[in-house]
Amino acid sequence: MSSRLLAFRARVAPRAPRHAARNASKPFHHSPRAQLKFHYHSNMSLRVADLCKDYPTRSGTLPVLRGVSLELQSGDALAITGPSGSGKSTLLNILGTLDQPTSGTVRIADKDPFTLPETELAAFRNQHIGFVFQEHYLLPQCSVLENVLLPTLASNHHEPALPWANELLERVGLKDRLEHRPAELSGGERQRVALARSLIHHPLVLLADEPTGNLDRTNATAIGELLLQLQQQEKTILIVVTHNTELAKRFPRQMEMNDGMLAGPSAQT
Ligand SMILES: Nc1ncnc2c1ncn2[C@@H]1O[C@H](COP(=O)(O)OP(=O)(O)OP(=O)(O)O)[C@@H](O)[C@H]1O
Ligand SMILES: [Mg+2]
Repeated sequence: MSSRLLAFRARVAPRAPRHAARNASKPFHHSPRAQLKFHYHSNMSLRVADLCKDYPTRSGTLPVLRGVSLELQSGDALAITGPSGSGKSTLLNILGTLDQPTSGTVRIADKDPFTLPETELAAFRNQHIGFVFQEHYLLPQCSVLENVLLPTLASNHHEPALPWANELLERVGLKDRLEHRPAELSGGERQRVALARSLIHHPLVLLADEPTGNLDRTNATAIGELLLQLQQQEKTILIVVTHNTELAKRFPRQMEMNDGMLAGPSAQT
């Protein structure tokens, strides 16, 4: 492992497991994960059936999702619009396994992630789900390249993932900024880094919650184009929640959330 990567790991995850070096020496394309990747991406589906989410509040139970059903295949891209408070982020958080549904089922690649024990669920999320949020959540002390490699620390795949990280940063137009810190980038550039980071594990599902919410129109359009381009190349399932109707219109499939219910699709394929 290069001294630069060792220093990076020491700075960000000082107590990574000892088998890191052993795993890191394996070429990425020889890892079991890489061998499974094509299989997953070619036949993968996301199935959501009758999903409900209630929140207990002081004035009683608040039903936020009220029977959401959805099915997407590898390479599908869906934009969800809808009024504030209608349940869009709640749905995305559940699909990203960050929150549990009250009832209903989620199946990702024919697996119900909520049946997994907590540590396996965390590994599943890290490996198979990519997130892009309105805030980029980049680590200020790390370089652009290190931020993209960050999710690989948990699985100790950062050295084998280096060529892919470089390629992603080239694809998002930042190959000359690898050593920059986030503070030295514009808002649009930071969001490009976040986009590259979300794809470092070749996720099965990419979830973006208001990814262009902090950007001006030009940057919002550019990020939207990039999202769709990368998603098509990777054949990832992409779900974007947005208030930007121009962005939503670029998606082959659009649905609207209203009062916890998802209506559509207005498919344009
Ligand atoms: N932890 C919680 N406890 C209680 N209520 C919650 C909780 N999280 C969200 N809610 C409520 O659930 C509803 C839906 O919230 P959600 O964040 O999903 O909306 P949204 O569609 O993403 O809105 P926005 O477009 O403003 O981001 C809101 O009324 C919110 O107050
Ligand atoms: Mg929201």
